[in-house]
Amino acid sequence: TKVGVFFGGISVEHEVSVISGLQAIEAMDEERYEPVPVYMAKDRTWYTGESLLDIEAYKDLDRLLQEAQPVTPVAAENGGVDLQKKPVPRFGKREVAHIDVAFPVLHGTFGEDGVLQGFFEVLNIPYAGCDVAASAAGMDKITMKQMLRDQAVPVLDDVWFYQHQWAGQQEEWQNHIDEKLGYPVIVKPANLGSSVGIDIARNRDSLAEVVEEAFAFASKLVVEPLISDLTEVNCSVLGDAEEAEASELEEVLKTEDILSYADKYQGGSGGKGESAGAKGGGGMENTDRVIPAPVSEAMAAEIRSLAKDTFRVLGCSGVARVDLMIDQNEDKVYINEINTIPGSLSFYLWEPAGKDFTTLVHEMIQLALK
Ligand code: DAL
Ligand code: MG
Repeated sequence: TKVGVFFGGISVEHEVSVISGLQAIEAMDEERYEPVPVYMAKDRTWYTGESLLDIEAYKDLDRLLQEAQPVTPVAAENGGVDLQKKPVPRFGKREVAHIDVAFPVLHGTFGEDGVLQGFFEVLNIPYAGCDVAASAAGMDKITMKQMLRDQAVPVLDDVWFYQHQWAGQQEEWQNHIDEKLGYPVIVKPANLGSSVGIDIARNRDSLAEVVEEAFAFASKLVVEPLISDLTEVNCSVLGDAEEAEASELEEVLKTEDILSYADKYQGGSGGKGESAGAKGGGGMENTDRVIPAPVSEAMAAEIRSLAKDTFRVLGCSGVARVDLMIDQNEDKVYINEINTIPGSLSFYLWEPAGKDFTTLVHEMIQLALK
């Protein structure tokens, strides 16, 4: 079975995706699958070729892309998809790769939000992971929360608005936030991953500032109360609508008030400036995490159950990671977000129970072909 592994992409999580994608290829069982790398460059050109398999090669991207083959996936006459090479003279004659199943490992906009999944639907090619609707719902924090709230899965209160609504009616929105949430609050772009554009406002004045800054990243924002004594715990879920299992839990440690992009990918806010693509260890390898998370058995059971509820309510499939918040003062758990294509496919959460990365990838492909 030829598996097209799609990674890179145009989102702010491009570099993380390169790591996750190459890890998935590395983990793929050679006896069963032939991985075909498809790298999506930031200019939206797609490439394939052996040279894409070396993580070090991404340090000299110009050179890497000279060696790679630009392609466009097109529906194949005999079913499946062909990666049609683009008519670029310097490549001469080359085999065009055929893929039987797509395996998207793109984080964020364009890859994790249903857009690419819709493209696969149009081409009529099976693909791993969530379908269009689940991907889109999972990427949009507001849609996700609304669906969960509706099914009594706990999420924090919020106020959300579009940029055009805020503009001109700022005072009304500020009043509304004062009344409904109080301070401090946390302001988030509704649809970005990796904590990009997230900041805290401790009073009304700073709220205006933080909101303006967040609009640089997204035109729809969600404002939530800030939990003062917060523990962040993640749980991965694997399966589909019929059956799903929950993984071991991780506690994610942070060095700032909010877990920043630097915490996640650069080893703390100081971030040595090392590109997230420079190592092969894990999409979030520099985040300090504790596995298993040090929570009570009862709490762990509740978290696993809520993670599976989230997966089910959104209609997920494949592997996802549900990020939860424990309010230690209130002893309450809330769903924070879901990553329908989690960093490193959250393989490290499955290892404690004896499911290695190779098995995880295999199960994901089998779910796609079911
Ligand atoms: N969005 C990143 C990759 C994650 O949370 O896993
Ligand atoms: Mg995310």
